[in-house]
This record gives sequence, C-alpha cells and structure tokens, in this order.
Amino acid sequence: MPNVEVLPTREALWNAAAERFVRSAADAVQARERFSVALSGGATPNGLYALLATKAFRTRVSWKHVHVFWGDERCVSPDDARSNYRAAYELLLSHVPIPAANVHRMRGEIDQFESAAEYEQELRTHFTTSEGPPRFAPGACFDLVLLGVGTDGHTASLFPDGRAIDEKLRWTVADYAHSAGMWRITLTLPVINASQEALFLASGAEKRSIVERILHSLDDAATLPAHMVSPAEGEVTWMLDSAASPLSPSN
Ligand code: 6PG
Repeated sequence: MPNVEVLPTREALWNAAAERFVRSAADAVQARERFSVALSGGATPNGLYALLATKAFRTRVSWKHVHVFWGDERCVSPDDARSNYRAAYELLLSHVPIPAANVHRMRGEIDQFESAAEYEQELRTHFTTSEGPPRFAPGACFDLVLLGVGTDGHTASLFPDGRAIDEKLRWTVADYAHSAGMWRITLTLPVINASQEALFLASGAEKRSIVERILHSLDDAATLPAHMVSPAEGEVTWMLDSAASPLSPSN
C-alpha cells in the first residue's frame, strides 16, 4: 500500500518533496557515498527543482556524490522547450556544484532506439549490473525515482496504450507517445520497481480523479502504468496537494 501525504498547497508539496530529496540523499551518501536519483519530467516538479536550487536546500546536499538520471525524456534536442533535461538544468542543475559527469542525460536528439540502448548501458555500468534484471540492492538500484502522473494514468513515458509498459527485460526503451504525438525514451517498470523509493508528485484538481482511481484501485486501475509502480522491496509514496487529493473535501 503506498504511503500518501497530503499537503495544503502546491508550495507545501514542493517543500515536503525537497525535504524528502535531501533526506534520501543524506541517507544514501552516508551509507555508500553515492545518491542515484531519477528526475521526473512534466511541469509538476519544476517548483521542486527551483526550491532545491535555493540556498536553504542546495547547501544541504552533497552534490559531488549525487548522480542524476531521468525517468524519461522527449525525443527532442536538449535545448528544446519540451526537453525534461532542459527544465531540470535551468531550474536546478546549473545552480548546484554537481560534476558534469554525474549528470546522465538521455540523448533525445539522436535516433530514439540508439538512445534507449545507450542509456540502458549507462545504467548498467552505473549500477554494476552488466546483464539480467535490475537488482534491488543498495547501490545497485535507484535510491529515489521521482514520478508524475498524467490524467490517463501514465507515468514517466509509460502510457496505457504504449508498448513500453509491457517491457519486462530491457531497462530503457523508446516508445511513441500517441497522446503527445512524439517519440519518448523511458525507464521501464523493472527498473522503477527495483528502486528503493518511488515518489509521485501530483498537484491540481485535474489530477484528483486519476489519483483516486489509482490509490483506491477503482475500475481498471490495475492496467494503469502509475498503478503498476510497486517496488518489490522499496517504497511508493504519493505526495499530493489538497486539490489533487481524493481525501480532501471537494471544493
Ligand atoms: C513527462 C513526464 C510525465 C509527467 C506527467 C505529468 O515527460 O511529461 O515524465 O510522465 O510526469 O505527464 O505531467 P505534469 O506534471 O506536467 O502534469
């Protein structure tokens, strides 16, 4: 059963997520001198990234020990306004002393299938797992995977009508996102479900219905990608603002 935290406002949601990021990083760095995190795309986490870049938070993270990856990327160049990398770079990474080698960008500007294969190799090297499935072991999996949720129940670029959601062996695949009308690169469920913690951020009234379906397993929720995020041994946490929470009184 996922952990659910409801915060009164979007700003409080970002603050709670920033505190979770700092704590997760501190725990991982203390244990193994490395924090491996996958950032989410979309608009919801932008306030979190901006907050992490402020002095109040950035000084609490040992950035030289942080390795940043992405849960997914749009197949566009890194300077494209739709690039998840660009958003994280402009809001956070360009403001903190993270070594360039620790920023593991999905290359959206090259052939999508080559990019997916390249990224899988980068993940395998980073997590010292040259073949086979991801291992749920400290240092061999993500310490934290940040995720959003679309109103159709997608997460990362795992879409209900996509093929990536069915991938059981590869760690990273390319898939065509019909709703977005573009190719995407995405981590697959085996990687996400091997993480120590998956942290969903959802904000706004437009997310309330899908969040309720997923958290209460209503209707066909079991077929929704965001519902299929269930780390075997790790944790799933949903951080919601009150507008997105089915637990809050309807406005
Ligand atoms: C992306 C994201 C995607 C996002 C959801 C929610 O690349 O768009 O990875 O999964 O998290 O679509 O997006 P919003 O936060 O903009 O609602």
